[in-house]
Amino acid sequence: MNLKSILLTLFFSSAGITTSTAQEIALSKSSLVGNGIAEFIPKGFDKNKTPSLILSSEPKSSGKLPADWSLIPQFSFNNNKASAVLNLKGEISLYGGGEVTGPLLRNGQAIKLWNTDTGAYSVEGGKRLYQTHPWVMGVRADGSAFGIIFDSTWKAELITNSDQIIYNSEGALFRVYIIDRKSPQEVIKGLSELTGTIKLPPRWALGYHQCRFSYDSEKRVMEIADTFREKKIPCDVIWMDIDYMQGYRVFTFDSIRFRNPKILNDNLHKKGFRAVYMIDPGVKVDKEYAIYKSGTQNDVWVKKPNGEEYHGKVWPGDCAFPDFTSPKTRNWWAGLYKDFMSTGIDGVWNDMNEPAVNDNDFPEAQRLGTMPYDTPHKGGGNLPQGSHLLYHNAYGRLMVEASYEGILKTNPSKRPFLLTRSNLMGGQRYAATWTGDNYASWEHLKLSVPMSLTLGLSGQPFNGPDIGGFLGNTDGDLWASWLGFGALMPFARGHACAGTNDKEPWAYGAEIEKTSRIALERRYRLLPYLYTLFYESSKTGMPVMAPVFFADSKDLRLRTEEQAFLLGENLLVVPAFAKDPVLPSGIWEEINLVEGEKQDKYQAKLLIKGGSIIPAGKIIQNAGENSFDPLSLFVGLDKNGKAIGNLYLDDGDGFGFEKQDYALVTFKAEKKDNSLIIKVSDVVGKRNSKEINKINASVFWNGKAYSGNGTFKDGITIDLK
Ligand code: GLC
Repeated sequence: MNLKSILLTLFFSSAGITTSTAQEIALSKSSLVGNGIAEFIPKGFDKNKTPSLILSSEPKSSGKLPADWSLIPQFSFNNNKASAVLNLKGEISLYGGGEVTGPLLRNGQAIKLWNTDTGAYSVEGGKRLYQTHPWVMGVRADGSAFGIIFDSTWKAELITNSDQIIYNSEGALFRVYIIDRKSPQEVIKGLSELTGTIKLPPRWALGYHQCRFSYDSEKRVMEIADTFREKKIPCDVIWMDIDYMQGYRVFTFDSIRFRNPKILNDNLHKKGFRAVYMIDPGVKVDKEYAIYKSGTQNDVWVKKPNGEEYHGKVWPGDCAFPDFTSPKTRNWWAGLYKDFMSTGIDGVWNDMNEPAVNDNDFPEAQRLGTMPYDTPHKGGGNLPQGSHLLYHNAYGRLMVEASYEGILKTNPSKRPFLLTRSNLMGGQRYAATWTGDNYASWEHLKLSVPMSLTLGLSGQPFNGPDIGGFLGNTDGDLWASWLGFGALMPFARGHACAGTNDKEPWAYGAEIEKTSRIALERRYRLLPYLYTLFYESSKTGMPVMAPVFFADSKDLRLRTEEQAFLLGENLLVVPAFAKDPVLPSGIWEEINLVEGEKQDKYQAKLLIKGGSIIPAGKIIQNAGENSFDPLSLFVGLDKNGKAIGNLYLDDGDGFGFEKQDYALVTFKAEKKDNSLIIKVSDVVGKRNSKEINKINASVFWNGKAYSGNGTFKDGITIDLK
């Protein structure tokens, strides 16, 4: 036993943990598997005990670790539970951990990785949420950065002390990946090289979404949709929560209130809306119910250790749960989407997939809120058999993989849109996410910024909160304050729990309705920019909504800023609630998108970075309308009188863009003497950008604003005198 093992043993016994000796585990292999990416495999690691569900493909060794590689994890094993520690030197700012409450800067934090249904983030003081991201990024004082992935799904805790990152699992040994690169942006790119990126979403998914638990009849759904159009408040999507189902049976429709989903969806489409419907994993145990019968015939259900079907209570009462670890089960589940989607459903919402089980009628000590740890899962394909303790954190991720496949197979010429509550790092490849059941409070309003930022720094750019707060009643002031910046987050959806007040943009009176319209009109004007950011993110993994320190990772002042945020690199968003936000230095000029926004105390301030060009569209009512008649360019010149920016264009849906049917346009602006010339400097892709003809520009130079018009073909010349 070496000194370290003795110290570890002393630690465990002083913490009151009866333990056999914590044993240090040597490395069996370390090698490079990418540019600045190292893989560490401990002796005794066995893929059949800890399969990887996080990585998008098996890494290939590309050579030896360089002799000066400094970040090396130490593995240990105690009572059959594997841990790893990374010792840190110097002042390091830590980020990541996925879906977390608390501050953006993670130094001195500890979270539990055990996906949990946690209304108002109340379970274990908010240290345990719906998703698992065993990932930490460190940013050094010189602005360089590194990141560490603990490639395991076992129940675990993740501790981020200032001098150590500690990952304690309750399972077998696992591999560790460390990315060491020159900037946080490069580290996030490395993360996406290992875990994949989002797929480019359909353009409509970037519009505003309106949800409630539940709009409970076809009539109510159409009333909501019509009100958006009558009041000219932009919106793209209406959501059907569980009450559209027949007695909460998934893949069914209530025979009275949702008698004709095809007609409902057609009517929504005619008005320029899309329809998203919820599907939970729990299937009602009911011998007369087709899905339960089919699941039983196909032997897809999770079983107890004694071989009986496992049942747990969810909305419909006792449910059986598909064992998504089995490829056969995933295939069966994917097949269920065919008839369902053929009613004209555009997108799917997978919920309760931690999986959440209501065991409140059990004695308190026996309540787990999910399946017992020893519940076996079948596995299959490249997944071994394993216990719930291994697979729990991957249950939602495996479910959305199956859902994604099913949706795509049903409509192969459309881009799937899927939202999930539970997920695992890497699961961004299949589904967007939201931050679960928050509360209508100022605390959760403020928290929604660091939560979304942290998800973005953990590989999941397509995320956002329930705007307005899900649980509890919302008043007009809170709603407007939330929407004033929430409308600018990557996923923008208003939602409300059953039993709470109406939370649509018009529910709080005329003043707040006007504010809501302005907030959403601003989002819609920015759609061309947002869509471009999503395109870039689908290529590089870069967060759409990024922390302010991304503007200058060497500027230590910015490391804790968690009120303001960046959209891409070029737009800074300062929410109205922000008190003394720390903003990046350099040139940042305020832009105006919509009349009346300046006088509106709820709207976030928007600042364009000097040296950049932001494309914007017209105010439209849904993402399907032509945004580019005319196209607007916001041009913030740098100190040399130059600026550059991109616009990505395609059909907005489908896969033509994979065959070059897209245009990635680069605009350049340059001051020559007293004239500013703005023109297209480059177009990548084969799409002719016919939808753009006229352009107008708002230019910021030396603290003054100028404007001018021109065409896409010929560009714009502006006199700056
Ligand atoms: C869960 C979801 C919530 C949904 C509700 C009913 O609480 O998190 O968004 O409205 O279930 O389906």
